[in-house]
Amino acid sequence: MAVMESPAKDARAREFLSVPRKMLINGKWVDSISGKTFAVYNPATGEELAQVAEGDKADIDLAVKAARKAFDSGPWSKTPPNVRGKLLWKLSELIEKHARSFAELETLDNGKALTISGAVDVPGAVEMFQYMAGWATKIEGRTLNLSSPGFHAYTRREPVGVVGQIIPWNFPLLMAAWKLAPALAVGCTVVLKPAEQTPLTALLLGELIQEAGFPDGVVNIVTGFGETAGAALSGHDDVDKVAFTGSTEVGKIILRAASGNLKKVSLELGGKSPNVIFADADIPAAIAGSAMGIFFNQGQVCCAGSRLYVEKKVFDTVVGALSDAAKDIKLAPGMDPSCQMGPLVSQEQLDRVTRMVEGGKKAGAKATVGGEPCGGEGYFYKPTILIDTKPDMEVVKDEIFGPVLTAIPFTDPNDIAVEANNTIYGLAAGVWTRDVSKAHQMAAKIKAGTVWVNCYNVFDSSMPFGGYKQSGIGREMGPDVLELYTETKSVCIGGM
Ligand code: NAI
Ligand code: MG
Repeated sequence: MAVMESPAKDARAREFLSVPRKMLINGKWVDSISGKTFAVYNPATGEELAQVAEGDKADIDLAVKAARKAFDSGPWSKTPPNVRGKLLWKLSELIEKHARSFAELETLDNGKALTISGAVDVPGAVEMFQYMAGWATKIEGRTLNLSSPGFHAYTRREPVGVVGQIIPWNFPLLMAAWKLAPALAVGCTVVLKPAEQTPLTALLLGELIQEAGFPDGVVNIVTGFGETAGAALSGHDDVDKVAFTGSTEVGKIILRAASGNLKKVSLELGGKSPNVIFADADIPAAIAGSAMGIFFNQGQVCCAGSRLYVEKKVFDTVVGALSDAAKDIKLAPGMDPSCQMGPLVSQEQLDRVTRMVEGGKKAGAKATVGGEPCGGEGYFYKPTILIDTKPDMEVVKDEIFGPVLTAIPFTDPNDIAVEANNTIYGLAAGVWTRDVSKAHQMAAKIKAGTVWVNCYNVFDSSMPFGGYKQSGIGREMGPDVLELYTETKSVCIGGM
């Protein structure tokens, strides 16, 4: 019998892919109650990569029960902050130790270049756990200065409780880290549901969570589909908070599902981020930064700088150079060392990007480069720049989530903030200028959670990230995220 060669090179990653993966519930690796599994695919080839347990409502119930017990009466409820911090730091070291296995599994599951998963996703996850390890001991209340005589009052910051976390497929490990680290730092327990397209690195992380020594039930990982497992988690009456990253459409479904028991909700959703290049900018830097701003991660980034506005004087220069840069990008399977852009995550995403760009072209937009899928094996799409668009076209208004830029000239710098804000979204924006006043004015005018000036796609665990308008609710990272996972209790003492 022919033995199929493993697509992984790293021994642990190979072993990981060689057997069907179970779910982590109450400290045990278990099959789904239904016994069902589902396949995950390598987007570079379309071949099956592994089988994973298919959890649904029944498995979510078990996981929530385990998380509830761990929160209310298990050892976690008595684990002091310094020990929580130590566990988080230990987990960060274990991820570092297994960095190669994580990077390979991420690349095989998601498609992104191994150089990117090794340099961005894995170190980003390590840094997030380290940053939050430091916060575990610094969650404090205040002594209040009351005007009412005869009372003494203070606040306590308490963990919100059992948290459901639903994450997407574009940065699978990193999104797990963004979600888990703050929740665990403040003392919550978690049921995590990874995206069905990319569950593998979250499951490897689960093994290391066990190895680090987190008590049973503190982190439960249920793999499965959104409409079943995800819906059960966001609608569960014994879950105190749900945190979600994904499409705006599903964010709204989750908000409604959460209303049953009024669980707390934080959402990090879609975007159509404006990136504005003024004529006085360092133009080569603006070109390089804007190319990265749209093409990084195959454009599958919620804050991708997908609406490029260029001051008319430099429009042709900028678009010409960007089109040349797009043409030069080497598309290849992520495991290929020469890969600069991998495939999209799935056939579904490839179809979506193809359909939207076709629609744009039919409506009158013109591709200076790309504008079609690569064809052949895998879900590859050519880096694309569209010009001659109109503000009401779908390609300008809606999130494409692929390597597709719309480039639009502008003449009046005073009007450009209005145009930049002409969107239902408000996740991020870019501004390129050498004029300090203009930079600060734009930063103040743009309605978005992050404004990058003379840079793009810069993330740091200490820098809050999240959306205005329909890009979401709440801020992740930085001290701000701690608000999402804690309740403030006022304690007022009489008889003083
Ligand atoms: P999605 O929003 O459906 O999936 C994200 C997560 O939500 C997955 O874990 C999925 O299982 C879960 N989910 C889906 N339906 C659910 C439900 N009814 N209840 C609870 N959980 C549910 O995103 P999808 O379908 O993979 O991608 C569609 C589009 O969404 C993309 O083209 C892109 O525009 C956007 N998107 C945005 C992301 C971001 O980072 N903001 C990430 C992924 C997708
Ligand atoms: Mg969906």
